Amino acid sequence: MAKIVMLTGSPHKDGTSLRLADAFERGARAAGNDVYRFDAGLAADLQPLRLEEGSPEVAIPGTDTYERQVLPHLLEADVVVLVSSLYYYGMNAALKTTVDRFYRFNHELKDKKAVVLATGYGTHDDLKVLMDWFATLQRYMRWENLATVEVPGSWTESNMRRGIEQAEKAGRAIR
Ligand SMILES: Cc1cc2nc3c(=O)[nH]c(=O)nc-3n(C[C@H](O)[C@H](O)[C@H](O)COP(=O)(O)O)c2cc1C
Repeated sequence: MAKIVMLTGSPHKDGTSLRLADAFERGARAAGNDVYRFDAGLAADLQPLRLEEGSPEVAIPGTDTYERQVLPHLLEADVVVLVSSLYYYGMNAALKTTVDRFYRFNHELKDKKAVVLATGYGTHDDLKVLMDWFATLQRYMRWENLATVEVPGSWTESNMRRGIEQAEKAGRAIR
């Protein structure tokens, strides 16, 4: 049994990327894994990082949902699942500000395993910068990639069906 933390970023509750996340979660739970999921795009109080007043340091308020709820799970996680849709050739802002919050415990969060799930209206080439960013982040964090599911043409239900199948299978493969 693996401890899995899923981080999603889209604000669309039943949108394409959260449908991939649902499928992965279903598979991972069916395989007996422990899943904690944070839908950053649906979290009301998640703000971009700001400087602490009078200090050059970035601040994470003590009341921050990430700090109180997500970080303890992340520190314990074996597998981190990053889920985004393509917004202006990058990731969802809520996922980015969640990743920015890794900084304080950057070292402690290294050497995990990772899964990436991504959807986008455009083509495989349109998704390239986002997928490169995910690959670079994983390299930097020394996270071993277990699976990447990418759905270009997310407006087509047949593409989504294929991605959902792949995501569920990726979830089931986690041990
Ligand atoms: C703010 C915004 C920006 C977007 N930017 C892009 C883009 O740069 N390229 C693209 O192909 N699709 C873009 N799209 C389309 C989304 O990638 C596509 O609709 C995706 O399936 C949305 O997934 P979601 O419902 O999980 O957020 C954008 C959509 C929105 C709402």
